[in-house]
Amino acid sequence: MKEKIQNQFKKQFGTDGVLYASSGRINLIGEHTDYNGGFVFPGAIDKYIMAEINVNGTDKVRVYSLDMDAYCEFGLKEEDAPQEQWARYIFGVCRETIKRGGTVKGFDTVFAGNVPLGAGLSSSAALESCFAFALNDMFNENKIDKFELAKIGQSTEHNYCGVNCGIMDQFASVFGKKDCLMRLDCRSLEHEYFPFHPEGYKLVLLNSKVKHELVDSPYNKRRESCERVAAILGMDTLRDATYTMLADVRDKVSDEDYRRARFVIGEKQRVLDVCDALERGDYETVGRCMYETHDGLSRDYEVSCEELDYLNDVARECGVTGSRIMGGGFGGCTINLVKEDRYDNFIATAKEKFNAKYGHEPEVINVIISDGARKVID
Ligand code: GLA
Repeated sequence: MKEKIQNQFKKQFGTDGVLYASSGRINLIGEHTDYNGGFVFPGAIDKYIMAEINVNGTDKVRVYSLDMDAYCEFGLKEEDAPQEQWARYIFGVCRETIKRGGTVKGFDTVFAGNVPLGAGLSSSAALESCFAFALNDMFNENKIDKFELAKIGQSTEHNYCGVNCGIMDQFASVFGKKDCLMRLDCRSLEHEYFPFHPEGYKLVLLNSKVKHELVDSPYNKRRESCERVAAILGMDTLRDATYTMLADVRDKVSDEDYRRARFVIGEKQRVLDVCDALERGDYETVGRCMYETHDGLSRDYEVSCEELDYLNDVARECGVTGSRIMGGGFGGCTINLVKEDRYDNFIATAKEKFNAKYGHEPEVINVIISDGARKVID
C-alpha cells in the first residue's frame, strides 16, 4: 500500500510528502456504553488507513482517494465543506483542529486503506485519527494532546457526518498499542492497557457482509433512548444507573427505552467482569459475557440482524467460547473467541452453513492487536 500511495502522490503532485497511518479497531466487550459514560475495552488492529501529506503553500486541501479513485479539493473555511461524504471526514478534522485553536494550512494528500468498509471496524475513525495525528505533527508541533485528537475525530462525526457517536473508536485508533487491549472509562477518560495474549485461543472476526452504515441509521435513536431514561432518573448519563433504579421508573419510560437502558446497565458491568476474568486467565467467563452481550444487543438493544444472529448460533453449536456482534451493529462482524483446536471446524462450518443460507460465505478476518496513530518511517 505504501508504494502505491507514494507512486500516486508523485504522479499527482510531483513531489514527496510524509506518511502517517492510523488503525481500525476491535472491541472485546462494552458496546454502546461509551456515550453512556460507561466502560469500553477496545484495541487497535493491523488494518489501517495510510496517508501521504505535504504542505502545498495554498489555502486549499487537495485530496486523492486511491481506493475510490476520486479527487476532491476544498478550502479551510466552514463554508468550504465538500459534498462528498468521504472528503467530509478530512474536512471535518481540519475544521475541528482549527476550532480548537490549532493551525491547518493547505496540503496535498493521497490516502488508502485496508480496513474493510462497513464491517464495524471503524474505518472512519481510522481516517479521522490519521489526519488528526498528521495535522498535529505537521502544523502544531504535536501540542494537541492525544485525547483532544480523539475528540477531534468524534466531533467530526457529530458535526460533519451526522453520527452522534461516542469516543471509543477514535480513542482506540489514537491510543492503540501493540498486543494490548485498553479499558477506557468514558466518563473520566482514565484508561488502562491490558496485555492480551489468550494462550490456546484465537480471536477471529466473521464479516456477514451486511453493510453496516451508521449515517442515517437508528444508531442516533439508540442514544436518544438512553438519554431519555437518564433524564428521567435525574442523571447526565446511565453510568451510575442500576437495575433497581430502572425498575422504579418502569412506568415512566416506554418499553423500548426500558429495554435499551436494561442492556446498557448490564453491559457496563460486563466490561469490568471481563477485565477481572482476563487477569485470572478465565476465558470461559470472558466468553460467557460475550454471549450475554450478543443476546442483549439482539433482543434488548435491537441492533443485530438475522445474519449476525445466525453466525452467533453457529458459534454456539461449534462450541466457540465467546461470540457476539461487534461495534455499532446493524450489520458488520461477529467477534469470536475460539479454542485453537475448534478453530478449523468452526470456520469451515460457518462458511458452509452461512453460504447455504445466504448465498455467500462470511469473510474471515484474523486480526492482530497493533499500534494506533503514527508517523510511518521509511
Ligand atoms: C460505533 C460508535 C462508537 C460506539 C459503538 C458501539 O462504533 O462509533 O462510539 O458507540 O458504535 O459500541
